[in-house]
Amino acid sequence: MCPKSMVTGESGSSGGTTDMSLFDIASLTPPRILEILDRAETMAEASPQGFNGKTIVPMFFEPSTRTRMSFDLAASRLGADLIVFDHETSSATKGETLRDTARTVGAMGPDLLIVRHENAGAPEAVARWSGVPVVNAGDGRHAHPTQTLADLYTIRRHFGGFDGLKVGMVGDIVNSRVARGLLSALPALGAGVIAVGPATFLPRHGDWDVDCAGDLDAVLGELDIVYLLRVQKERGGGLGFPSDAEYHRRFGLNDNRADMMKPECVVMHPGPMNRGVEVSDSLADGERSLILQQVSAGVPVRMSVMAGILGGGT
Ligand code: NCD
Repeated sequence: MCPKSMVTGESGSSGGTTDMSLFDIASLTPPRILEILDRAETMAEASPQGFNGKTIVPMFFEPSTRTRMSFDLAASRLGADLIVFDHETSSATKGETLRDTARTVGAMGPDLLIVRHENAGAPEAVARWSGVPVVNAGDGRHAHPTQTLADLYTIRRHFGGFDGLKVGMVGDIVNSRVARGLLSALPALGAGVIAVGPATFLPRHGDWDVDCAGDLDAVLGELDIVYLLRVQKERGGGLGFPSDAEYHRRFGLNDNRADMMKPECVVMHPGPMNRGVEVSDSLADGERSLILQQVSAGVPVRMSVMAGILGGGT
């Protein structure tokens, strides 16, 4: 057993707009998670368009492709107005602090902010400073709750539920906000999780309450889902192993390892992928891959989250 602590609830809401916000998955009980997933199912079938006159402002201080686009698409399917905050051309480049930026945006009276930032805790600070509810779209190593919900939606659609599933999270666990969310949510919903990777990527003893393994081949045959993570080089992950080739030899999913997997075992990855490092082309694009389903799931799940907040709940 590895370590305990930060896998669950660190956000500590402090009332008002922060109560309506979504900062991390650990602040949602299993029934609330299932309610969001159920509402997402209805959103996938019909675009409700019920939020005309509501204004959503995505504030991305870090790069993003799928998260950003699916929030934009989800907002427009809800019928909301989308006012884009462009970090590159904003006053942040003239030295404006995050607090002043948040207060400025808040003074214009939007209904919801979507915040991605390299610093853990920034979305919560922006909610406090702006007085506007925030959905966290990824903050440092901390959390990325709508990615977790999209993954849960994908898993439930494929397997019909969570009970008894065994999920291997493989790779840069300690630097990953995606891993943190699933390691918290999956056990709460009845699935088993094991963290797999080089010792440098696993939580240190005493940190998180999760089973860990350093040998992927020893556990691969037991898994229903192999969830691959990108090595987070921008967060120091590149220093955790000797070379990309060595990482692939020990932890990369390729045709040799596919033979060790159960026939029904599927492959997931939040993207962006490092092809040839954590996954080979054949597995990334093969029949067992749910990777594009995860991307598609992002739209109804984000519609569900935003509709819940704009409608007065989470
Ligand atoms: C992830 C992120 O940015 O947290 N990607 C995503 O949002 N789908 C994972 C990553 O950057 O590796």
